[in-house]
Amino acid sequence: MDANTPAVEAAWSALQAQAKADAASHIAARYDTEPDRLQRLTLEAAGLFLDLSKHAWSREGFEAALALARAGDVEGHRARLFAGEIVNRTERRPALHMALRAPDGADFKAEGKPVSPEVEATRAQMREFAEGVRAGRIAGATGLRFRTVVHIGIGGSDLGPKLVWEALKPLEPAIQLRFVANVDGAEIAAALAGLDPAETLVIVVSKSFTTEETLVNGNAARAWLAAKLGEDGANQHLAAVSANVEGAARFGVAPDRLFAFWDWVGGRYSLWSAVGLSTAIGLGWEVFAQLLAGGAAMDDHFRTAPLARNAPALLGLAHLFGRNGLARPIRAVVPYARRLALLPAFLQQLEMESNGKQVGEAGEPLIRGSAAAVFGDAGTTGQHAFFQMLHQGTDVIPVDIVAVANGDEGPPDHQARLLANAIAQAEALMIGHANPQEPWRNFPGDRPTSFILLDRVTPAPLGALIALYEHKVFVEGVLWGIDSFDQWGVELGKTLAKQVLPELQGGAAGKHDPSTTALIAKLKR
Ligand code: F6P
Repeated sequence: MDANTPAVEAAWSALQAQAKADAASHIAARYDTEPDRLQRLTLEAAGLFLDLSKHAWSREGFEAALALARAGDVEGHRARLFAGEIVNRTERRPALHMALRAPDGADFKAEGKPVSPEVEATRAQMREFAEGVRAGRIAGATGLRFRTVVHIGIGGSDLGPKLVWEALKPLEPAIQLRFVANVDGAEIAAALAGLDPAETLVIVVSKSFTTEETLVNGNAARAWLAAKLGEDGANQHLAAVSANVEGAARFGVAPDRLFAFWDWVGGRYSLWSAVGLSTAIGLGWEVFAQLLAGGAAMDDHFRTAPLARNAPALLGLAHLFGRNGLARPIRAVVPYARRLALLPAFLQQLEMESNGKQVGEAGEPLIRGSAAAVFGDAGTTGQHAFFQMLHQGTDVIPVDIVAVANGDEGPPDHQARLLANAIAQAEALMIGHANPQEPWRNFPGDRPTSFILLDRVTPAPLGALIALYEHKVFVEGVLWGIDSFDQWGVELGKTLAKQVLPELQGGAAGKHDPSTTALIAKLKR
């Protein structure tokens, strides 16, 4: 319990005191008083460039944050993560997503048991299937090639693959991907609209294979296939990805269409596993392999770089300086790349499901705030929606700006305009603009940004970017002393929905609070 030791508490107190002092002076002025500021707070990692100099931390604030990371033994926790020890204590599991993206020949172990051979075997199975579908060797029941993959899954079984597809998909894909997550019938209706079952492959993705939304949508898709192709024909159009192989087999998926992963892969860390099968089909194996390589490059950096030059650690500390040092419970994420528009949605699950916790690992109540709420949208569209509040709202909301150096799509001058906006917004948020005569035109400034630059939205930098955030979430979780890999908070609502459903469908009324009882009565059908 490193997070609760007197040394850690002292480091927290020092950080909070220093943050308070730092908030009393302007960020922009620090470049004069700290000549090494830019050099100290910018770094390159796995092909990404980070500028963390526009945060409120002074040199002393930065040192206090590093001292906290040392006191909290981030390096020791990191070693235990990579060693495959149990880091998800409430579910008694390691968290070894790094094993999924390591090159062939790696030697990851989960609680001492080698896992790399089975990772490689599944990767080979995925590759064969993806290449077979792309080449038309694996075709539908009537002999037609698959032209669309319908990916059915929710949460971690949806958001990562969808982000990757939207980021990397060709303008005119040979094979289209459509995603179905919500149990709202409108979603599957829209996904299946206009498709020919004879040319459609359905992949049902669920770690547990018990998730209501996914099973309901999976059954609906199977019925849609069978209506045209018959039950046997439908089977040739179905594949499943799960850590619950028996559950997926019960669903009726043929063994050679079943892709396994393991309980040491957290749902929101699973896009690197067979959960990414649909993206491997839609984008091609080489692209998927490069995505993995980008993630692995960030793993190498995170595992080996000293804390003071470690991108995930420093990004985590910068965020934590705002969250806990300056009590800022919201953060915006603004990718200046339409292709990365789903990054905020992906990070909402990664950050808020991982670190939105109220107790420490021993069940003790936390004495300081954990995950910040994350929201955002692509720049520049976000500028015309919520940036007003970022510049002039009563609360300071730190912003992650993710920009792309060499976007080469579309007419030639668009990219420069896009970049100009990204850079200018970060500058404006920091320097502000005093206007005492017209207070409504006053920009207070001192609103921090993390500036993250990718060379291009190509597979390797994207993999590195996602892994950067995964590891920064880990670093924060270590320092808050929480289990970043469980998600008990999603259970109660699921349980109650199971009780409410039969009541809505005409069953006997259950025992509820008056508001809930009245809603059920109103909506009963
Ligand atoms: O939202 C809760 C959750 O358990 C997530 O952690 C997970 O990513 C999602 O549901 C889907 O779970 P599964 O892959 O088991 O269907």
